[in-house]
Amino acid sequence: MTVSLEQLRRCHVAVDLGAARTRVYIKGAGLVVDEPSVAAVNTRTGALIAVGTFAEQMTGRTPDYIRVARPVTGGTVVDVEMAQRMLRHLLGEKLRRQLRRKPGLRAAACTPHDSDPLAQRAARETLMGIGARRVELVDTLIAAAVGCGLPVEQPTATMIIVCGAATTQIAVLSLGAIVTAVRLPVGGDAIDHAVIQHLRLQHALMLPSQSVRPLQLALHGNGLSPMGPESTEIHGRDVATGLARSVLVDTAAVRDAIHTPLTAVLDGIGKVLRDCPPDLVADLAERGIMMVGGSALLPGLDEMLRASTGMPVHIAERPDVCAILGLGAMLEGQIHPMVLDPLAE
Ligand SMILES: Nc1ncnc2c1ncn2[C@@H]1O[C@H](COP(=O)(O)OP(=O)(O)OP(=O)(O)O)[C@@H](O)[C@H]1O
Ligand SMILES: [Mg+2]
Repeated sequence: MTVSLEQLRRCHVAVDLGAARTRVYIKGAGLVVDEPSVAAVNTRTGALIAVGTFAEQMTGRTPDYIRVARPVTGGTVVDVEMAQRMLRHLLGEKLRRQLRRKPGLRAAACTPHDSDPLAQRAARETLMGIGARRVELVDTLIAAAVGCGLPVEQPTATMIIVCGAATTQIAVLSLGAIVTAVRLPVGGDAIDHAVIQHLRLQHALMLPSQSVRPLQLALHGNGLSPMGPESTEIHGRDVATGLARSVLVDTAAVRDAIHTPLTAVLDGIGKVLRDCPPDLVADLAERGIMMVGGSALLPGLDEMLRASTGMPVHIAERPDVCAILGLGAMLEGQIHPMVLDPLAE
């Protein structure tokens, strides 16, 4: 998937359809939408009731006739029609009118590394729903690397880990292109799931759908690292009786539970390094790993990677929006292509 910077510069709008959040960048206006990729539908009439943050708050709290849908899973649009409707509503009337005024609207989207033709087509079709005549697709890894200001055009290697909600992508970049990369089907959702399972099995406690984040924040300061409070009080529902109950959770045990999905990430890093030429690995040991994506904010994750790889680990300045800001920079023409002209003899 190589797309020229020249084509991207002609685009008016860039979209990052993530499993957790949808982000839209409009040329000249900046990042205009950053909302959860969720839509609530009335199943009796088929009408859309809410999108974004409000729809996410409805999760687990709806009566029978309201369905909360997530049209993007695993970085792929699985329900094109719903994704189109969600995107249109997230943009709102004002922005939609602004886009409609542009004849031959061009759009750019980032798709996960290695996405199959079907997933690419679904992304294209979704963007046609907002009136795009032509859609350029960019690898998320490249967009994220540009967004966090990595010197991708230099002949030195840089390693980037994009920690999303449904996928984790790891790559080594050099000379503006991907040298080796893997995409793993684990991410923030798998980590949340591990915490929920742990509380269910060890404490017979069911967590409300939105209280995993507060739990992670409660672990803040110790997160995945062994400093900090030894236990945290968590409220939930007893699995057997159905009554509200609170338990004192041992943070070290939660930490262990979180480690399980992260083992896959460590394996992935190992695989990328093994596939990489030795010269680049030497660069990496010096320059380290750059973490981007929302899950890079998980407290202690960087510490854990540092301990297990022995390499310096940095978190990007705004890890969650790196990919869309990278696309935005390409739209605005702030990125200059590297010229690899044959030398004159
Ligand atoms: N402060 C935080 N601490 C821990 N996890 C966080 C934090 N903020 C966001 N996350 C996690 O980050 C994930 C969202 O990241 P991001 O916005 O990069 O996902 P996405 O781009 O929608 O997903 P994908 O790229 O996999 O399709 C969620 O799983 C969320 O749980
Ligand atoms: Mg993403």
